[in-house]
Amino acid sequence: MSQNSAPSTTLQDIIAHAKEYGFVFPSSEIYDGLQAVYDYGQNGVELKNNLKQAWWKAMTQLHDNIVGIDAAIFMHPLTWKASGHVDGFNDPMIDNKDSKKRYRADQLLEGKAEEYTNLGQPEKAQALLTKMGALLSAEKLDEVRQLIIDENIVCPISKTSNWTEVRQFNLMFSTQVGSVAEDASNIYLRPETAQGIFVNFLNVQKSGRMKVPFGIAQIGKAFRNEIVARQFIFRMREFEQMEMQFFVRPGSEMEWYENWKATRLKFHQAIGLPASKLQYHDHDKLAHYANAAVDIEFEFPFGFREIEGIHSRTDFDLKNHQELSKKKMQYFDPDLGEDGKAIGNYIPFVVETSVGADRLFLATLCNAYTVETGEKERTYLKLHPALAPIKAAVLPLVKKDGLAEKAQEIANSLKSSFRTIYDEGGAIGKRYTRQDLIGTPFCIAVDYETMENGTVTIRHRDSMEQERVAITDLKEKIGYAVSMERILEEI
Ligand code: GAP
Repeated sequence: MSQNSAPSTTLQDIIAHAKEYGFVFPSSEIYDGLQAVYDYGQNGVELKNNLKQAWWKAMTQLHDNIVGIDAAIFMHPLTWKASGHVDGFNDPMIDNKDSKKRYRADQLLEGKAEEYTNLGQPEKAQALLTKMGALLSAEKLDEVRQLIIDENIVCPISKTSNWTEVRQFNLMFSTQVGSVAEDASNIYLRPETAQGIFVNFLNVQKSGRMKVPFGIAQIGKAFRNEIVARQFIFRMREFEQMEMQFFVRPGSEMEWYENWKATRLKFHQAIGLPASKLQYHDHDKLAHYANAAVDIEFEFPFGFREIEGIHSRTDFDLKNHQELSKKKMQYFDPDLGEDGKAIGNYIPFVVETSVGADRLFLATLCNAYTVETGEKERTYLKLHPALAPIKAAVLPLVKKDGLAEKAQEIANSLKSSFRTIYDEGGAIGKRYTRQDLIGTPFCIAVDYETMENGTVTIRHRDSMEQERVAITDLKEKIGYAVSMERILEEI
């Protein structure tokens, strides 16, 4: 028997599987969908919630000095001025005049660099990326356009290089608050959850008597008007972030940056992403707020791409909020410094970890999707048991002779401990297959022997091996295997 997931798995396989088995649907599909917006189905929401729970516990339960918040999506408009998003949260866009298609100028050049790399010319690729980074930082958009032309980049649709000028496009969505037109004011849908943490920094620090270093974690929706939205749930206009801002003493930020880099990589491995499919990627072009930044990338069917960013954000955000709000963002550090003097007041520096829940979901799904070929072909999701939407399915061999009732009784007895379903429809082999396709790690079969001696068989999803166990042992045996503890112990 041979197994494979990526690279022979295509994104199309994943999209089809996600739709067919209730993981992800296109948004408002009956109206032909809405580009770059997706809905999570009955199994998808469970998997996503489990991922969010793993992250939340990894942050708040494993660290005494990290607490969570849940800030509003709408924020005072000045928040986005202070954060730099009003002036700097832009993507350079370019249109092809013949096809009328719009592209991100940086992505066209990155695509070219990838071509060079694939042709065995990594130096040429790096030189192009460096040049692009310099031109974009200096806002030399004319020269970015020229670079696209010089590199002979053509529109994949029209095959021409009849390009418009490059323009900056702000990615924030805006809307109005206020019931009367004259009173209405423009506000934004948050493009990152981080600012909800920054503006609450002192509220949490004071009410929780937190001492630096400490962190604030948050999970929530973010919105970006992405110019080119593609690759399924990888790049969406409405998505979910799991962010943690870690407030540290100025000067200690690089140590914490390294520390969080390592901790976050371990998290991804603990939820089941293999080390061979994960890599760090240092940023060529730093965001407007960062003095160091790295991505953790996962190998999707379409190549290595970012799933998480770790940024050393200095005191950029708190300082700017202090300036615009006129409220002090300083922390009083009661400890003594090396010179024996009290350290006193300062604005903390921040190391941020920011992972997209949807990208993590996609990475998990791509990694779990397994096709076995050979004498017995099957497709199944090899999800970490703690992440699986359903942990156990109880299946009576037949419906008669009291087996169905016994199986229902067993399912009911397990439900309060972990997500268990009862399924009596169709041949048992078909029912195993149904559970394999959604990644259920344990199937419990109830047969005639069950009625005689109170035992059942547990069928293990990955090995398909079956073992006979007492009904009274099920809760303990399966309970630990599917618990979040299993993930947290690995971090
Ligand atoms: N607060 C920092 C920040 O927002 P980012 O690198 O722009 O940094 C962090 O975003 C993470 O959010 C990314 O690593 C990615 O997982 C996720 N993300 C960003 N844009 C996304 C989009 N359009 N669709 C899905 N996920 C996205």
